[in-house]
This record gives sequence, C-alpha cells and structure tokens, in this order.
Amino acid sequence: MEDTVTEAVRKQYEAYSYPPPIEDAEKFRKKWGPLTCDPQFAGIQLWPEGRPRQDLRILCAGCGSSQAALIALNNPDCAVLGIDLSETSLAHSNRLRDKHSLTNLELRQMSLLDIGQLNRSFDLILCTGVLHHLPNPDAGLMALADVLDPSGSMAIMLYGKAGRAGVYLVQDILRRLGAGQDAEGLRTARELLKFVPSHHYLISPTGKLPHDLADDAGVVDMLLHPQDRAYSVPDIMEFVAAAGLIFFGWSDNAPYCADRYLSGEMLERVLALPAAEQWAVIDNLTVLNDRHDFFVRKPQSTRFLTRFDTNDFLSYVPHVRSGVKLAGEANALILTRPSPQGEVITPISRSEALLLEQIDGKKSISEILSHALFTRSEPEQRTNFARAVCERMWRSGNLLFGRSGS
Ligand SMILES: C[S@@+](CC[C@H](N)C(=O)[O-])C[C@H]1O[C@@H](n2cnc3c(N)ncnc32)[C@H](O)[C@@H]1O
Repeated sequence: MEDTVTEAVRKQYEAYSYPPPIEDAEKFRKKWGPLTCDPQFAGIQLWPEGRPRQDLRILCAGCGSSQAALIALNNPDCAVLGIDLSETSLAHSNRLRDKHSLTNLELRQMSLLDIGQLNRSFDLILCTGVLHHLPNPDAGLMALADVLDPSGSMAIMLYGKAGRAGVYLVQDILRRLGAGQDAEGLRTARELLKFVPSHHYLISPTGKLPHDLADDAGVVDMLLHPQDRAYSVPDIMEFVAAAGLIFFGWSDNAPYCADRYLSGEMLERVLALPAAEQWAVIDNLTVLNDRHDFFVRKPQSTRFLTRFDTNDFLSYVPHVRSGVKLAGEANALILTRPSPQGEVITPISRSEALLLEQIDGKKSISEILSHALFTRSEPEQRTNFARAVCERMWRSGNLLFGRSGS
C-alpha cells in the first residue's frame, strides 16, 4: 500500500514538477532574496549558539525543482545534497547546477526514507512541503532524524490544518467527481473553481483564490494530490516528539502571536497558557495558517531554546529581525515589517523603543542594560523591564536571540 502511494506521488511530480521550475537562480535570488530556511537567513534561529561549522553539510530532502540549487548558490562554502523522487524535478535542478557552475551541489534520485543507506550525516536538513506527502510521515521524520548530526538543525514545512480547511473540502468534491491527475481532471477542477462562492474557506481574506492555482502544477499539487495531510499545532508537537526531536521554534512567531489577535482579559488568559497552547489557540482562531514553517533539533540542544523564565536571558544577544522598522508618532510608536500574511504591526512604548535602539547584534541584554539610559532604575526593576520587552518582542517575532560568544 505504502509503495503504491509513493509511486503515485513520484508520478505526479514527474508529470507536474512543483514548484514551477525557475530558469535562473541568480535572478530569482535578486528578486526574492534568500529562502527563509537558508542558513544565511535563519542562522540565529537554527543555531542561537553559533553555527557548528562554516562548511555545513546540507541535505535538501525532497528538493523539488530549485530549492537545493538556490541553497547551493547562496552557500558556496557548504556541500549540498539534493534528493527527490522526481526525475523531472532533479533534471530542472541539474540545469541550474550547470548554468551556475554549482560544484557544491550533488543530486540523487531516491526516497528520503532510504537516506540512511548513504551512511552520511548532515548539519542542516531542509524538508519543506514533503513529509505531509508520505504515506507515513512519522517514518520520514525518523529517517531524517537518524542522519542529523547531534548539533544539527532541521527546517520543516508542513501543511496547516486550519488554513487548508477549504482545500480539503474542494479535494473531496473532486474525488466524488472522479477527477484524476490528467487533462480531464484539471479541466474539471478549473470548471469547479468557477462555482466556489466568495465566502468559501478556499478563498483568502483578500477575496482571491490561492495564488498556487494559477498554473496546472499548482492545481494538481493543491487539489488533485493522491497523498496529503495537514497538521494542527498540537499535531506538530506530537509529530516532533515521536521522532525523538525537540520543537525549536517557528520560522516566524507572528502568525502564532496572541498579542496580535487578542486584547484585555482574553489576552491575559491566553498568555497564562504554556507557549504551545497559546500557538494552538491563535492557529485555530485566525485560520490563516495554511502552512507551518518551523525548526527541530536533537534533545541535547534543549539548553539553547529561547526562554525568559529565569535570568539566563540576560546573557542572550538580541537581533532585530530583518525588515523591522520603527514608525508612527512619538506617542504612538509601532514596529512594522512585511510578512507573507500581511504587515506585522506591533505597538511599542518609548522606553521599549529606547531599549530596541541599543540592539546591535553584538551586545548582550545585560550589556545593553548597563547603558546610562537604564541604570537609574533598580537592577531588579530593569531586569523585569527587559524581560517583559524581550519576551513580547520574541512572541511577535520582531526579535531573535543569539547566545554570547556566538
Ligand atoms: C511540494 S514539492 C516541495 C519541493 C521543495 N522542498 C520546495 O520547498 O520547493 C515536494 C517534493 O517532494 C518530493 N517527494 C515526495 N515524497 C518524497 C520522498 N519520499 N522522498 C524524496 N522526495 C519526495 C516530490 O517529488 C516533490 O518534488
């Protein structure tokens, strides 16, 4: 049964390579910047303590048509292995390899379930948009965990249950209509989409059909997939724990941030819950997350998790996330930054802004607090002030935290 499903998935990505291939990785990088799972972009989130080595061994598991090539291009010091079931997607990746002379990129046609057979280990594993297509995603994550170096880090993307509710309703209709992965199935899907009402869960808050439905490969990937499942926040926590790994944080906390969507007593009640419960509440409330991007590591990295319940946070080195800008009037300051789900706006006070202005990506929080601006208040008072600011800015994804010496 499992092999039949894997075979159907392979055939789909042979016929409909996804994401749509790109012609030029340099131009793509110039236009869109690095991928959010790229170690150049997500370095602090992958390794707050500093990356384990410069020449990372990177595995792109289920690399599709371009991901491994984009990572190899942006990380010339690193050795990148891209694996995929689909020969078509690998051929696209190979064209990019030749075009940009990516000698640090190796490509292999194989299932990620067999990665252990190579007897290699990796510092960074990227597996985005893949595990939810396996007949047994748990077995997939375990196979990857087995080849992750003890100090390694993994970036994963899984579909979101709440945000994809509309997708599953439409998939169900298409199954009833017998639509398959062929020209006739595509025609049926396109015809059906004409009748999807504007209040349907498939339609985005801006009133549009998902952008991915613009081309055939996108329609097949979203609506005619033979194997696809989605995850709630608690599903993800269980999934990660079952593979013996730890959840190491979202790629961006903003879509899970209680402060953005609640206020008053309800906000206080939700903030009193453990972090994973808060995220589950917001995921269910907003129904915006059609994907979850997150990091996982091995249990020995638990000590590098960002937390504010002891005074250890004073030794963290805060970094302002790229794209964050201070704006607004003197008495109504905000932080603002773009995100795929729209602008992230975080109101801040003037004293909070003063603390943020001291952040240079080098000084620890205690070094920042030793500035004359803050030493007028009692040590305990300024520690608690910094704790509240940093925790709130971490919850909204505006601040990321490295460790001293990193
Ligand atoms: C939606 S694409 C994502 C591609 C890429 N990771 C990205 O984010 O652009 C999913 C890819 O996973 C591959 N895939 C699915 N199951 C796989 C498996 N068991 N082993 C390796 N690749 C697999 C498919 O062939 C397809 O190219």
